[in-house]
Amino acid sequence: MPTLETLHQRIEIQEGNIVRQKVDAIVNAANERLLGGGGVDGAIHQAAGPELLEECRKLNGCPTGQAKITAGYNLPAKWVIHAVGPIWHGGRSNEDALLASCYRNSLVLAESRGIRSIAFPCISTGLYRFPIERAADIALNETLKFIEQHDLPERINFVCYGHDTYSIYLDAARRILPGFSG
Ligand code: APR
Repeated sequence: MPTLETLHQRIEIQEGNIVRQKVDAIVNAANERLLGGGGVDGAIHQAAGPELLEECRKLNGCPTGQAKITAGYNLPAKWVIHAVGPIWHGGRSNEDALLASCYRNSLVLAESRGIRSIAFPCISTGLYRFPIERAADIALNETLKFIEQHDLPERINFVCYGHDTYSIYLDAARRILPGFSG
């Protein structure tokens, strides 16, 4: 069983732009059509270049709560894992479980490809309006559950776009991982 300290060392919370992350895989907050969009999805497609959209067209979409993988093309990351988060409808439409399943399925996919480092954005917390505090708890709890049982990915970065989001994630991490420092 890994110690709490080892788990801490595998998780990092950062403020920044996910498209610049030098990791094996970045996760996209996509929609079910997987054909691009605004927010982080738009930024990833713009940075990766048109070949990403070409590959996405062949995937035939992706149901909410699941994830599919493509190459990263012009991104520093070799892979993009496209996860489809739930649209927030007030919390009684299975949103929590669907968001947890996005994180779990992205990590399962990463592990199956031998991916050692992965960066997540705050899935569903933009256009899809999922409350950020609640989403941060789900992201961290689900990730922790996974890395307790699996050696890969070795490193998981949560990339927060803006200082408010960063503070919320840091608070959540200190609550969920006692002694977590950053
Ligand atoms: N790097 C990291 N995080 C980012 C970036 C970026 N470059 N751009 C936006 N974000 C953050 C937002 O601040 C938000 O916290 O990503 C989080 C998710 O926001 P959205 O991108 O709006 O994603 P989501 O809420 O899951 O909605 C998905 O948006 O554009 C579409 O195609 C996408 O239809 C889908 C929907």
